[in-house]
Amino acid sequence: MFEFSDDSNTDPIRTDLSKRVAELHQALHLHAHSYYVLDAPSIPDAEYDKLFSELQNIEAAHPELRTADSPTQRVGGKPMSEFATVRHAVPMLSIRTETDTEASGAESFDARIRKELSLQASDAVVEYVAELKFDGLAMSLRYEKGVLVQAATRGDGEYGEDVTHNIRTIGQIPLKLPETAPGVLEVRGEVYMRRDDFECLNERQRTKIAAGAKGEKTFVNPRNAAAGSVRQLDPAIAAQRPLSFFAYGVGEVSMSTSNPVVWGTHYDLLQMLKNWGFPVAVEVNIAKGATELIAYHQTIGKLRDTLPFDIDGVVYKVNSLTLQQQLGFVSREPRWAVAHKYPAQEQLTTVLAIEVQVGRTGKLTPVAKLAPVFVGGVTVTNATLHNEDEARRKDVRLGDTVIVRRAGDVIPEVVSVLLEKRQNDAPIFTMPHVCPVCDSVAVREEGEADYRCTGGLFCSAQRKHAILHFAQKRAVEVDGLGEKLVDQMVEAGIVRTLPDLYKLGLTTLSELDRMADKSAQNILVALQNSKQTTLPRFLYGLGIRHVGEATAKALVKHFGKLDAIMDAPLEQLTQVADVGPIVALSLRTFFDQAHNREVVEQLRACGVTWTEGEPSPAALLALSGKTFVITGTLPTLGRDNLKDMLEAAGAKVAGSVSKKTHYLVAGSDAGSKLDKARELEIAILDEAGVLALLNDTTSGVNL
Ligand code: IVH
Repeated sequence: MFEFSDDSNTDPIRTDLSKRVAELHQALHLHAHSYYVLDAPSIPDAEYDKLFSELQNIEAAHPELRTADSPTQRVGGKPMSEFATVRHAVPMLSIRTETDTEASGAESFDARIRKELSLQASDAVVEYVAELKFDGLAMSLRYEKGVLVQAATRGDGEYGEDVTHNIRTIGQIPLKLPETAPGVLEVRGEVYMRRDDFECLNERQRTKIAAGAKGEKTFVNPRNAAAGSVRQLDPAIAAQRPLSFFAYGVGEVSMSTSNPVVWGTHYDLLQMLKNWGFPVAVEVNIAKGATELIAYHQTIGKLRDTLPFDIDGVVYKVNSLTLQQQLGFVSREPRWAVAHKYPAQEQLTTVLAIEVQVGRTGKLTPVAKLAPVFVGGVTVTNATLHNEDEARRKDVRLGDTVIVRRAGDVIPEVVSVLLEKRQNDAPIFTMPHVCPVCDSVAVREEGEADYRCTGGLFCSAQRKHAILHFAQKRAVEVDGLGEKLVDQMVEAGIVRTLPDLYKLGLTTLSELDRMADKSAQNILVALQNSKQTTLPRFLYGLGIRHVGEATAKALVKHFGKLDAIMDAPLEQLTQVADVGPIVALSLRTFFDQAHNREVVEQLRACGVTWTEGEPSPAALLALSGKTFVITGTLPTLGRDNLKDMLEAAGAKVAGSVSKKTHYLVAGSDAGSKLDKARELEIAILDEAGVLALLNDTTSGVNL
């Protein structure tokens, strides 16, 4: 569609320039629409800024190319029609942006201020307030007689959208101010979403999408999520969105004559806002002269990742209000303030491959391998695609140009694909159904978002986790075998699977870091002691998904012996109290894999032992695990009578025919149940047949 090249300024041919201007108009209009109206940015901010300043530069050099509909002639966002329009009593200004992300950015601001104020080198330093530049959306909160009467977005600076109903749901915003507050007070600040709240919200959205909810989406970044939530038409939904607020200035202020409040500096104003109940960032600082501005920029730059919310820079403001007035404005920007940016947290890059990584608990995560890109202060080469649904929704493909985001300690993430840049016909990514590390079956259970490797005992990605799980106190308990030691054993390659633990010798162990003979000896004794265990502990220690301690105990109580558990078909497993179809399937999938059984056999061969028990009476009943349905009129037996007989033999009697039905007992006048059973090819018995079956069971054979 359009190209994002940076070199058009050098193009000397006028017609080409007009063409480029038209391209830039189209691109900027489109991106501005996605950003401001749809709340779904289509390129990173830094890219947008680049295109915008390219157009500004062309227009500066060729004013005849500047048209009234140029994106440069419009400031801020376009109000959305769904919201009532509000005229700001005092316009909401923007700040000049210093894009030089180096310390020199602060120096040139100070130099400009000193020049404007005609200060000589010998004059005192100028005092500034240095603040964080929050990455959310600007908000004007109007209080009359201390009561919140209106909240409006910035819009184009002059007209914004009335979002009072949604803003009222933000707990941090006071609805009523103390008596000391001015009669009319417009508080200006930023509505934002904390990074942890953003992650939670997206996780919630992903769960909803995985469960098949329609019309739900995840958000690209916290600012986008905050903007989308503020513009939510349904306040009930907005109320569930975790929004926060910081105050950083005021609009209209009018004092009641009886109770005047005065402040002479911006810093004092911020303190007052705090006293009136508004959140003001603790990082606000007075900075004297360029040196302290630079120090602030550096300190906050280091802190940036550890802050709980996104910032895209810092803001410097002249502290004295008298000096602010003296400096005044250029168009819509005050001369007394500047935003000094940090490297962007979102960048464009290309996808070199899509791989699937296996976590220590067996979770499979699709990961995009990226052309190295500097984002959020580090070089990023990998970005998570989270899971199958997310990967499919984002539809990231090999060779794609993508926006990658890295903010704080959060793992880098591909937030969207630039479809207009897709040139290949690379296939849609699909999740593998086997583990890419160990080839075991990978399953995604109903209602879950992730695929998991089922070869926990065998998969090298899960080694450490499997060993620690097995060795823990609640499992076979190997005293002293903790995380550090397991890390060492696995990394040194001396333990690959659980049985290797029991083959360790004193020499191998004492060669490990910080492992004296005595402690090595202690570990060997602990290993020896762990061999005598109980079956529930052993079973739990295998780390089969969904098999916790209670389930392991219930299984052992029911079946008595390990082999019986390993071989039990699904329907027998589901007979156990607390074992539903998901747990049963997990057990079956685990024991159906030869390498898992091998580990169990090897552990037994190494001397791990327990006392086996007898199966419970319920497990012994001949018809245990079988489901019957009775229909029609039987020649001699009443239905209830037959039901009692079947249940006494361990069977379950259900009301309707399904795939899980084993036998249908059909008398005369049997209707739709009989048809259904035939359709599903279920065994059909008459009265004589079921009686014969019950007779056979007296021999105790489990059918
Ligand atoms: S002061 C007269 N202070 O940056 C200056 N703005 O273009 C008015 N912003 O979207 C703004 N943090 O919402 C100011 N500490 C801060 C800020 C801040 C973020 C945003 C503001 C607006 C943009 C200014």
